[in-house]
Amino acid sequence: MLTLAPRMSRAQPSAIMEIALNAKRLAAQGRDIISFSIGVPNFLPGDHVYQAARDALEHDSGQYGSNRGPDALIDAWLGSLERSGVSGYGRENVATGVGAKHVLFNVLYALIEEGDEVLIPTPYWTSYVDMLDVLGAKNVFLSCSAEQSYKLRPEQIAAAITPKTRVFMFNNPSNPTGMVYTKEEIAALAAELVKHDIWILSDDIYREMIYDGIGWQHLVQAEPKLRDRVILIDSISKTYGMPGWRVGFLAGPEIIANACVILNSTAITNLPEVVNAAAAAALSGPQDVTGGKCKEFSARRDKVLECFSRIEGMTCPRPQGAFYAFPNISFAFGRKHRGEALSDDVAVCKAMLDGVGVACVPGSAFGEPNGMRISYTCKEHELPDGLARIERFFGELD
Ligand SMILES: Cc1ncc(COP(=O)(O)O)c(C=O)c1O
Repeated sequence: MLTLAPRMSRAQPSAIMEIALNAKRLAAQGRDIISFSIGVPNFLPGDHVYQAARDALEHDSGQYGSNRGPDALIDAWLGSLERSGVSGYGRENVATGVGAKHVLFNVLYALIEEGDEVLIPTPYWTSYVDMLDVLGAKNVFLSCSAEQSYKLRPEQIAAAITPKTRVFMFNNPSNPTGMVYTKEEIAALAAELVKHDIWILSDDIYREMIYDGIGWQHLVQAEPKLRDRVILIDSISKTYGMPGWRVGFLAGPEIIANACVILNSTAITNLPEVVNAAAAAALSGPQDVTGGKCKEFSARRDKVLECFSRIEGMTCPRPQGAFYAFPNISFAFGRKHRGEALSDDVAVCKAMLDGVGVACVPGSAFGEPNGMRISYTCKEHELPDGLARIERFFGELD
């Protein structure tokens, strides 16, 4: 019988997508479902983005483009990084891809040999592990529980490093927890990381979605010596409400950027001209949509936390970015909802969907089975209703 390559036995569909699709399916069958499952922004980009796309269509060359990405797009992105306080990168340090996901995959493909160890703080974004599993990496999880506010401590890196450690995955602000590292915390991590000769993947796609005026700090700002091993990953998906346009970036040492340009040449050639023009317009045009959304999301975050504080037994470190909250729900394990036993996070999320029609993602999808992720970018009227249902669900536990 014809078979797939053995590595495909390790490939998994995205657990988050599966839950989101299930919620959609139930809604299509007429069930009253509120989905807090998928992490998509609830807005579209400004008119100038669509105008740039229309203009690009008018002048479409119809030709293949640059494997790295067009200069106009790269310059617009470097400008946006500089506005966030990260400078010193040139076009030669950059590569683009079909969303940050593709860029991450390219980078990991360029770096990982089977058996290489990769340090992954938990909770983590699910796709890191999906990608690393396919590539045959040995995932080394650094547990960051709710008690330590889901944030990694430098001594955890020191304790996990071995001669086989190849890559450290870092994501700030975090999906799934919404936590944001302070300047001091970034400095402490940078001071530890600089002692070790390992690649650092810094996934910064939520860097513009930070609340409470705390600002975004980066490892390369804290420790410039890290520049020769940090790979900064970014995307237009969340910041500009453009997840379907599929544009992602990296900035890092030339050897990395060039490797990803070659992989683009091998696998995709280039991103479409119209998409590139729209992305450049988003990055260099007015930034007020994102700013307005941050205000809205921080107010929503407050509502989510208010609701959680009324649920007896639930704790939730206060998120300050992205659009997620990740409460600890382990107080519900071993209890029952309408007669159904809740043995773990998956059972809780299933019972919540069945019982009150709210879809959240079980924490085990992110390597932290004591929690669940709620993404609060739903339609405005759905938030109070969905939160009231969650409160009712936990109030009904025996
Ligand atoms: C932490 C993180 N990194 C990367 C991505 C992928 O983003 P993109 O849409 O640019 O592929 C996501 C998407 O949810 C994410 O949450």
